Order: sequence, then C-alpha cells, then structure tokens
Amino acid sequence: MCIGGGIGIAPMHPIAQAMKEAGNQVISILGARNQDLLIMEDEMRAASNQLEICTDDGSYGTKGLVTDVLNQLVAQGVKIDLVVAIGPTIMMKFVCKLAQEKGLKVLVSLNTIMVDGTGMCGGCRVTVGGKSKFVCVDGPEFDGSQVDFDEMMRRMEFYQESEKKSYQEYKNHKCKLEDKL
Ligand code: FES
Repeated sequence: MCIGGGIGIAPMHPIAQAMKEAGNQVISILGARNQDLLIMEDEMRAASNQLEICTDDGSYGTKGLVTDVLNQLVAQGVKIDLVVAIGPTIMMKFVCKLAQEKGLKVLVSLNTIMVDGTGMCGGCRVTVGGKSKFVCVDGPEFDGSQVDFDEMMRRMEFYQESEKKSYQEYKNHKCKLEDKL
C-alpha cells in the first residue's frame, strides 16, 4: 500500500514502480488538498495495480483524507502486507497511527529540514524507537510505528517565521534561467 500526500507523491513513485516490478500487488492512495495540487496521477496509475485518489475539498476523487481511504480498504478486507507513506508529517503521523491500530507494518520516508546532509549538523534529527537518528544518514526510511512525529513536527516549526519572511522577500524573484527556457 503506497500512500503519497502532496509532493510526497514524487518520491513515492519509484518505490511503487519497484514494488510492482518485483511482483507485488501495489495499491496506491494519493492525497492532495485539491485537484490542482495533485501530481503524477498518470505515473502512479502506471506504477500501481489499483489507484485511489482523495482530495481534502472533494474537487477530485473521494472527499477526505488518505486515512479515510485506507480505513475503507481495510474494512473491505483488503490484505495489506506493508504500508509505505510519504507526505506531510501530520499525514504520516496519522497513517502510522491507523496502521498500528490495524496491526499493519508501516514504513515512512521522512522529510526533515536538512543542512549539511552528512550527519554532523543535527538539523534533521528525529527520535525513532527512543533513540536519536539523523534522517540524512540513518534514513530517510524508518519504521513508522517507532517515529516520534510530535517531536518531529515541533522541530519542523523552528524556522517557520524565517521561512515566511524569506517567502515574502523572494516571492517575486525571477529565476535568470527562465529567460533561457
Ligand atoms: Fe545535518 Fe542530517 S542534515 S545531520
């Protein structure tokens, strides 16, 4: 079961593709806030045996969250050997919570803030199974049932003010490459 939310669908694609090529039955659930923000539908359809889509506002696919669709599939008796989830931290948190409730193995690929990517700055630190791990060198994939998502979300918020400020300052920035495209 490959669950991708928002831009998390992009890194989910090669995983779904490889799983299918290896002979697995791949069911993918894609979630987005609305139809305009849904990416890689065709690619994910090709990489999956079954594709489910949901949007927060109901503009495309089922109205609701990826967890609603996962819940429905479990209720229908679909046999699931492994759930892989990539997307916003809050989405991964609730997918993992539901997977644990249903007794399903769950793997996540974390997308923390990274600075050096070498295991030295500590920017990407998360707690997994009560131990500190660096997403850049120890991950990015972890057993989702062991990740402290609340701590991860608090750490992800550290730079929100600076990020907002930078966005305001640079939102009208025009890439010089655009002229060349
Ligand atoms: Fe610096 Fe991982 S990005 S330790």
